[in-house]
Amino acid sequence: MENKAIIINSYGDESVLEYQTIPTPKPKSGQVLIKQSAVGLNFIDTYFRSGFYPTPPFPVVLGAEAAGVIAEIGEGVTGFEIGQRVCYTGGLGSYCTYRAINVDEVIPIPDGVSEEVAAACLLKGLTAQYLLRRTFKVGSEHSIFYHAAAGGVGLIFGQWAHHLGAKVIGTAGGKEKCALAKAHGFTEVIDYKAGDFVKPALELNGGKKYDVVYDSVGKDTFEGSLNIIKPLGLFVSFGQSSGAVPPFDIGLLNRKGSLFVTRPNLFAYNPDRATLLESAGELFDLIAKGIIKIEVNQKYALKDVAQAHKDLAGRKTTGASVLVV
Ligand SMILES: NC(=O)c1ccc[n+]([C@@H]2O[C@H](COP(=O)([O-])OP(=O)(O)OC[C@H]3O[C@@H](n4cnc5c(N)ncnc54)[C@H](OP(=O)(O)O)[C@@H]3O)[C@@H](O)[C@H]2O)c1
Repeated sequence: MENKAIIINSYGDESVLEYQTIPTPKPKSGQVLIKQSAVGLNFIDTYFRSGFYPTPPFPVVLGAEAAGVIAEIGEGVTGFEIGQRVCYTGGLGSYCTYRAINVDEVIPIPDGVSEEVAAACLLKGLTAQYLLRRTFKVGSEHSIFYHAAAGGVGLIFGQWAHHLGAKVIGTAGGKEKCALAKAHGFTEVIDYKAGDFVKPALELNGGKKYDVVYDSVGKDTFEGSLNIIKPLGLFVSFGQSSGAVPPFDIGLLNRKGSLFVTRPNLFAYNPDRATLLESAGELFDLIAKGIIKIEVNQKYALKDVAQAHKDLAGRKTTGASVLVV
């Protein structure tokens, strides 16, 4: 029962990531102990590592999702059994072999879905779920725009938006990423490394602006994004891969056409177990039907997490990445 983990003792670049052996926790009342086989890599992990998002006091085990099998069951837990395959996303602490976690957060992995796929898709897929189904209820009558289309959330978002019948235009950095995103549901994809995206974005929508722009790139795309949203349309700022959106004059929203702006997060959209299970059920159902395909495009050993962070922040990855435990 050796428990290997990636911890940080300070904020900083990849060099703060330490591979260590830590005590294996005992599951408390209401918890299960999971022997993890795959940890999902997410951009949010880099925010916690750098200190852009604050963590609890050090030492801190990073990581926000994983999958594995139940190894031990704490007092008072019903409805779960030893050996059951499960996954979760939530509070920090998934970069390790053994994780004790409240059962409220634990989701059974359906038959036909591997632990690796579950770890690759849960946080990202639940994000696509709320963005497309709840932040704005997307349908075939909508034209929507999504930045970083070839990313982890992006490839799931494209397939789901296509399934909903929406016209979904995206951006991606480079020709290969554009082709990949197009193969995952995007109607058209603009290479925003090759030039400004605003003019092609409008041309691809017949000169019209979009109902919604989903922007997780932040600083670099903020201004252009506001220029392609139709009056009374919605700007969804859900990340900042290029840096935080700078402070702005709220009058800008008036000048751009009475725009709505929201800054959502996954956990506010899944505040209780019933909502979480419903959202995950929708995601796994689309995966089971083959409507959403999850490919793990990068795999790293847990000890090589520094390289994984470098690649993700350096725009070298596509789709989902997993740390193999
Ligand atoms: N609010 C929420 O609930 C929530 C939940 C999940 C994820 N997110 C956010 O959604 C975004 C995507 O997450 P993910 O884990 O799937 O990551 P990802 O999309 O796989 O990786 C980020 C992508 O952003 C693009 N990018 C543009 N400018 C960049 C820059 N200066 N530095 C680094 N990347 C840049 C890159 O794609 P190109 O090379 O194609 O530009 C890169 O591949 C992140 O911003 C994350 O924080 C938010």
